Amino acid sequence: MLRELRQFRTQRFGFDLTPSMVDEAKRVLSKQGVPPRHIWTGSVLDPRAYRGPKDGVQHEFDSALCFGVLPHIPEAMDKKVFSLLRKNVVRGGLVLVEARNELFSLFTCNRYSFSFLEERLIQPDSWEEIPKEIKKRKSAVLQRLQGHFRMDLPPIRQGKAGEPGYDEVLSRTHNPMIAADQFAKAGFRKVEVLFYHYHCLPPMFERSNPKWFRKQSLRMENPRDWRGHFMASAFILKGIAA
Ligand SMILES: C[S@@+](CC[C@H](N)C(=O)[O-])C[C@H]1O[C@@H](n2cnc3c(N)ncnc32)[C@H](O)[C@@H]1O
Repeated sequence: MLRELRQFRTQRFGFDLTPSMVDEAKRVLSKQGVPPRHIWTGSVLDPRAYRGPKDGVQHEFDSALCFGVLPHIPEAMDKKVFSLLRKNVVRGGLVLVEARNELFSLFTCNRYSFSFLEERLIQPDSWEEIPKEIKKRKSAVLQRLQGHFRMDLPPIRQGKAGEPGYDEVLSRTHNPMIAADQFAKAGFRKVEVLFYHYHCLPPMFERSNPKWFRKQSLRMENPRDWRGHFMASAFILKGIAA
């Protein structure tokens, strides 16, 4: 992402948890004149990481981006990330945080849809005083519901030898309404949810004509279209530090 900000002719700093990502960023950004000391290793959950490695100077950042990271943060820690981002930008600073859209699972018609229905909407474990006839049938009901979805999709992504794949590390999705609320409570105003990566049809149909699928999906890109709640697989939380 930092590479894309070249056009703004601003000073750029960044950190990532994985040293090899940091090395790659240093390599790419040094070609754009960003000094290697501007890029360091650190976790978004560690308040010290926002300060840079050894210079120890508390930079007052005008703006902050957090892209691709939130999916890998445990649910209980989301608020901490938002609050650390807030603390490390000046008042009035723009902060953008990217997340994967949990509601997109209502559109995919696969095992993600079933999990969303079961865990987030129906929540059968929270049912109380279940009559005997229903109790007996509870699992049968859920099984029938599964029959409405392609439970074999999507295939589990596995990593290269010796490395975990994307689906084998923590990779969460976020409910945009809950995330926006938490973001605002962390001290941001003018909070907006900007949707992107639209899908014109559920992804299982992409294979029949990938070129057309992509073109048609790209035509839909509009961050403020309400359909993004369901048809876009990702979103950006945008807020101004209050
Ligand atoms: C999908 S990549 C995104 C990389 C980059 N931010 C970008 O936008 O191109 C996800 C990155 O999140 C990083 N990551 C995971 N947990 C992190 C954490 N707690 N703090 C900082 N980075 C983290 C991983 O090391 C990985 O490089």
